[in-house]
Amino acid sequence: MYKIGVMPGDGTGPEVITEALKVLEVASELANFKYELVHYDFGGDRYLATGEILPDSAIEEFRQLDVILLGAIGHPDVKPGILEKGILLRTRFELDQYINLRPVKLYPGVYTPIKDKGPEDIDFVVVRENTEGLYVGAGGFLKKGTPDEVAVQESINTRKGAERCIRYAYNYTRERNKDKKLTLCGKTNVLTYAFDLWERAFYDVAKEYPDIKPDYAHVDAICMWFVKNPEWFDVVVTDNMFGDIITDLGAMIQGGMGIAAGGNINPEGVSMFEPIGGSAPKYAGMNIINPLAAISAAQLMLEHLGQKEVAKRIEAAVMKVTSEKLKSLAAGQMGYSTSEVGDMVAEFVMKV
Ligand code: IPM
Ligand code: MN
Repeated sequence: MYKIGVMPGDGTGPEVITEALKVLEVASELANFKYELVHYDFGGDRYLATGEILPDSAIEEFRQLDVILLGAIGHPDVKPGILEKGILLRTRFELDQYINLRPVKLYPGVYTPIKDKGPEDIDFVVVRENTEGLYVGAGGFLKKGTPDEVAVQESINTRKGAERCIRYAYNYTRERNKDKKLTLCGKTNVLTYAFDLWERAFYDVAKEYPDIKPDYAHVDAICMWFVKNPEWFDVVVTDNMFGDIITDLGAMIQGGMGIAAGGNINPEGVSMFEPIGGSAPKYAGMNIINPLAAISAAQLMLEHLGQKEVAKRIEAAVMKVTSEKLKSLAAGQMGYSTSEVGDMVAEFVMKV
């Protein structure tokens, strides 16, 4: 019996989560597991109505769950940063979800802006550190609002934090069993403290994994190569900020935000899975947004829970929908409504 927290959030979040739950229900019947959903309505509407963002009591409740499925956070009437920091980042930090796992895989039938590259070329995974770096909020202002103003934003990198992320990435590369190659994405030529620590940790841990080939690339070069030679990559490990940036690039080459999903993982605790696109408020309530990223987030969630077989079926069903059904992944251009896409995936999960 899994206890699954569901936080649909803002904008189109609730619509895509409805489709993900549809697929989850079919999966549970097929794989014969039981689950209980615990619904949370945190997000922009609740904040505007009550002033509440994410109370401490909710964090305590989250600790009792097995996993969380998140829709999207971000509301046009709320100043950017409040909900993102107060809900998404706070949950990542409080639950110590130190891995942000983001597969970049081009499914058949999906348009990639990269000419001459296909599904056989674009299939890698980014392991992003998720609790440190520039995201910790260390720093401050001096003489704010004056001509002498100073702003400092510090990147915090601990040996323990880098090492546990790197070790997770080595393990993941071994289990993935593709090219057995792990690339550290850094900036050792300029960030000579932060990435010196990362680099030493990376090659120290490498000694425990003689079957995995350690590889290094600067973040700017990675941006080139994700576009020019995506087939070079198997698993990429990097810090929080670089991981944020390169996974948006990754999402684009796999077909965009309509398909990109990720997991905020605490391997020893409570993890949270999400479509990585935003809340797309302009499409809210129209039944035209693509739910595949949310469905893929549910797939990653089931994989994490150990339901590997049914997770594979969900992925196969999503691929069948992209290759045989959808005209495009873009909202309003799929040739089907949000709920129809969810219905097709649910149906294919049973048949594939
Ligand atoms: C992401 C998002 C978040 C991040 C924002 C919304 C805080 O861009 O999940 O990548 O920067 O981590
Ligand atoms: Mn991002």
